[in-house]
Amino acid sequence: MSKRHGSYGFDAPWALTGLLLGAIGLIALAVVSFALDILAAGIAFLFGGLYTLASAASYLYTTRRGKFAVWAEELQRLEGGERLLDLGCGRGAVLLMAAERLDQGRATGVDLWRTRDQSGNGESTTMANAEAEGVSDRVELVTGDMRDLPFGDDAFDVIVSSLAVHNIPDAEGRARALREAHRVLRPGGLMLIADFQHTPAYEDTLRGLGVVDVRRRDAGWRFWYGGPWFRTTFVEARKPA
Ligand SMILES: C[S@@+](CC[C@H](N)C(=O)[O-])C[C@H]1O[C@@H](n2cnc3c(N)ncnc32)[C@H](O)[C@@H]1O
Repeated sequence: MSKRHGSYGFDAPWALTGLLLGAIGLIALAVVSFALDILAAGIAFLFGGLYTLASAASYLYTTRRGKFAVWAEELQRLEGGERLLDLGCGRGAVLLMAAERLDQGRATGVDLWRTRDQSGNGESTTMANAEAEGVSDRVELVTGDMRDLPFGDDAFDVIVSSLAVHNIPDAEGRARALREAHRVLRPGGLMLIADFQHTPAYEDTLRGLGVVDVRRRDAGWRFWYGGPWFRTTFVEARKPA
């Protein structure tokens, strides 16, 4: 992975804050329990606090380092001339690493720029990152909803998305996003979606659209948002040619 020059924030910052505050609170309760000689409670709070702290450390690692390392490996398969779309690109963690590889192609990011889903989210932040990474000439940012993509049919060779589709609150909305992604992907094109929830449903939606070349695989420990119970899965699909 090449050195990053942009600034990429934190995914779902409220979740990380909750974990850190939870850890501090539990450790404080452990200290009070030990001070009051309530040994069993002290041990239980201490165990809970350390466990929550470890979850926060895992989350922090993934959002700042791990997801970049995993996606850098995934993007090695780009050949350089593709038209790529990133659904829910946020501040550009995946979009801009892809753009670095697209010396003859183009990387488009679509997003609603929700700061609840990523700290400091915003189109201008992402464009500043594109400039910092030296790829602004081949990056286009579009404000839009992935459930209703403002692109024509078959417009892209590759579609990627990282931890974005699950932010759509209802199953029908997420299925619509998958159907839209399928519509704008050209026949023979590649879809690579990373998410930590709902991936069996994404696979079902794609199979319902006639995509037979689709599989799910674990993204590994570098993509855990707090521990193995919040692991990320890749859905990889190829639209029939
Ligand atoms: C957790 S962030 C991940 C951002 C980026 N993919 C990354 O890995 O750094 C999720 C992103 O999805 C975007 N998002 C949520 N719902 C969306 C929707 N319906 N259409 C487009 N973007 C959406 C949010 O604004 C946010 O930027």
